[in-house]
Amino acid sequence: MTRSAVLGKDLTGLEPLDADQLRLILDTAEPFKEVSERPIKKVPALRGKTIVNLFFEASTRTRISFEFAEKRLSADTVNVAASGSSVSKGETLVDTARNLEAMRIDMVVIRHGASGAAQFLGDRIRSNVVNAGDGKHEHPTQGLLDLLTLRDRFGKLAGLKVAICGDVLHSRVARSNIWGLTKLGAEVGVCGPPTLLPRDVRELGVTVLPRIEDAIAWADALNILRLQLERMQAGFIPSLREYNRVFGVSRERLARAPKDLLIMHPGPMNRGVEIDSDVADGEHSVILPQVTNGVAVRMAVLYLLAGGSPDWHHPGGDHA
Ligand code: CP
Repeated sequence: MTRSAVLGKDLTGLEPLDADQLRLILDTAEPFKEVSERPIKKVPALRGKTIVNLFFEASTRTRISFEFAEKRLSADTVNVAASGSSVSKGETLVDTARNLEAMRIDMVVIRHGASGAAQFLGDRIRSNVVNAGDGKHEHPTQGLLDLLTLRDRFGKLAGLKVAICGDVLHSRVARSNIWGLTKLGAEVGVCGPPTLLPRDVRELGVTVLPRIEDAIAWADALNILRLQLERMQAGFIPSLREYNRVFGVSRERLARAPKDLLIMHPGPMNRGVEIDSDVADGEHSVILPQVTNGVAVRMAVLYLLAGGSPDWHHPGGDHA
């Protein structure tokens, strides 16, 4: 088992990390950005390590960027989806992971529908576990890539006003953003219909902005969340059309902002529902740079958990 001196054994969320650990991950991601711009996108940092990507829920960005991150670090990778594995025959999560460990793996990246699944697994297996999204709990690498993208654009996080808009109730992205941003000194506002805000959200140290116009007037950046229709039974919103009319981020609404706002979205987007296409594709959108930063952040997390030194890129380092 590898236990990182800076991050411990697992990354299950941003809540357990302090500001220095968050900064360290972001700083470690910086030089990894350049690796993805090279003609040969590879460094030998994780040569000989075996990583299993265990995805029990659908994913495009997270699953593929973890796989790119692993391959660009020269790790050997295996992808396991619930369908097509013995999970579909009823094998438990822990039995699945223990059987993979019997084949001598080093790390597991897991996405699962149950909140706490990553912690549950990390407590029961020797391999490092990285949470790629667990239920409504956390999506720590999405939170980190959002922090990195904000830091890229504004040069700092302290004092920044970030409004997280939409379906906060069902969003693990919102929770990881709230933990990460507040620990690094940013102010966080949340905006959405009362049915889609957690009842105790103020206890997380955020300001509630009741109307989308309030969020637009207050914020430096909007992180617009997907309406997670698959996690809603009924009655959270009257209709998609009504949601767009009241809470949709449109060019017309943004035109009334006192300044240009940075536009973020974790994807996948419901175009024409929480965000209009001309905003998603507009000049202030960093939705695709967020995805690019996802690879560098995931390289940093995997590298640090494997025991890598934060100063790998310094002259004389053995991984440059
Ligand atoms: N942002 C995000 O987690 O996207 P995927 O569900 O496609 O991985």
